[in-house]
Amino acid sequence: MSQFHKLQVLEVRRETADAVVVSFDVPHNLYDTFNYQAGQYLTLRFQLGGEAVRRSYSLCSCPHLEEPLQIGVKRVEGGLVSNHINEELKAGDWVEVMPPDGKFFAEVQAENYKTYYLFAAGSGITPILSILRTVLTTEPRSYVHMLYGNRAQDSIMFKSELDALEAAHADRLILVHSLSRPNSSWSDLWTSEADKPYRTGRIDAEAVSWFINTYPPYAQNVEYFICGPGTMIDNTRQALKAIDVPDQRIFVESFGGDPIDTSATGVANAQLTAHLNGETIETNIPEGTTVLRALIQAGKEPPYSCEGGVCSSCRCKLTEGKVHMRNNLALDDKEVEQGYILSCQSIPLTEIVKVRY
Ligand SMILES: Cc1cc2nc3c(=O)[nH]c(=O)nc-3n(C[C@H](O)[C@H](O)[C@H](O)COP(=O)(O)OP(=O)(O)OC[C@H]3O[C@@H](n4cnc5c(N)ncnc54)[C@H](O)[C@@H]3O)c2cc1C
Ligand code: FES
Repeated sequence: MSQFHKLQVLEVRRETADAVVVSFDVPHNLYDTFNYQAGQYLTLRFQLGGEAVRRSYSLCSCPHLEEPLQIGVKRVEGGLVSNHINEELKAGDWVEVMPPDGKFFAEVQAENYKTYYLFAAGSGITPILSILRTVLTTEPRSYVHMLYGNRAQDSIMFKSELDALEAAHADRLILVHSLSRPNSSWSDLWTSEADKPYRTGRIDAEAVSWFINTYPPYAQNVEYFICGPGTMIDNTRQALKAIDVPDQRIFVESFGGDPIDTSATGVANAQLTAHLNGETIETNIPEGTTVLRALIQAGKEPPYSCEGGVCSSCRCKLTEGKVHMRNNLALDDKEVEQGYILSCQSIPLTEIVKVRY
């Protein structure tokens, strides 16, 4: 099971009014442990309000450059951890961090000759920026076509870094900004409209089709990476399916935060038996509590990271009883059929629930 390591914060840089970029120092003895691929995420643990809380944040740094690990954190309204990071975290603080993880990454190789389509919205830029910089740094023959959606000019994260990349790689990078509610005109950001127009509107199926038609691939070996809110992911995927892009060429990362399925209330005080780390645990699941939280409340240490139904690190097998998963962005139909559940999303529907990790 992955362990947390204490990393020291080198810098907290304000990126926009609602987002900061946090850099971590990785000591020499943890270099291998914190090795990562462009697109992967870290899981951070904080003690807040007397409770240990974990959240995942994608790395926005480039693994092929000599630079500290960096994450970009956008404030979520009323959000516990994102506001803590935006308001309280400072250079010199120590944070508990789990080594990089995640299946959303680009397998970069110097000899690749590909076109990468990158679709990002809001804070979904973080893993996309890492992939963008890594491809441009390590694959001299590859092209990147990127559509980046934000509400307005001043909510664009990494604007100056993106401008610099565009200037340095004008022959290989096409970047189009899409603003759903631009707060004034193009002249706030660019010197002439012809020089850098942006598109108005959200990233929906029509925007994706327009983008691909307007900027067709140079290299015919094409991969598509998508990161943003649920509707943006669904719309982008739908547009790609409409032009027959095969599933294995589409890579998706969700940050969670989408509405959960609260249609089932669950059974109060169900009896839980869990086989975990060679131990058999017997405990109750209080009403409205997930299998994962029941185990944590019983003083146990089940595996988990995002607690949002996204990462699947809390996956276990249901061996008896029934549960309702409030959210599932991680398990495919086959895994669900085989009895796997996300313990962080599962509330009991029967008096007895048995699981095996
Ligand atoms: C693999 C992965 C990578 C991630 N990478 C990043 C990243 O690079 N940058 C980043 O800023 N965030 C990222 N997130 C989201 C992050 O983990 C937290 O979910 C987010 O910061 C909100 O946490 P919170 O404690 O502030 O909010 P909470 O206290 O958990 O939630 C408060 C309210 O906000 C809603 N909410 C929770 N999460 C989101 C969300 N992501 N979007 C909108 N509403 C939400 C909840 O439904 C709730 O109503 C990532 C998530 C995952 C699973
Ligand atoms: S902890 Fe990430 S899906 Fe459950």
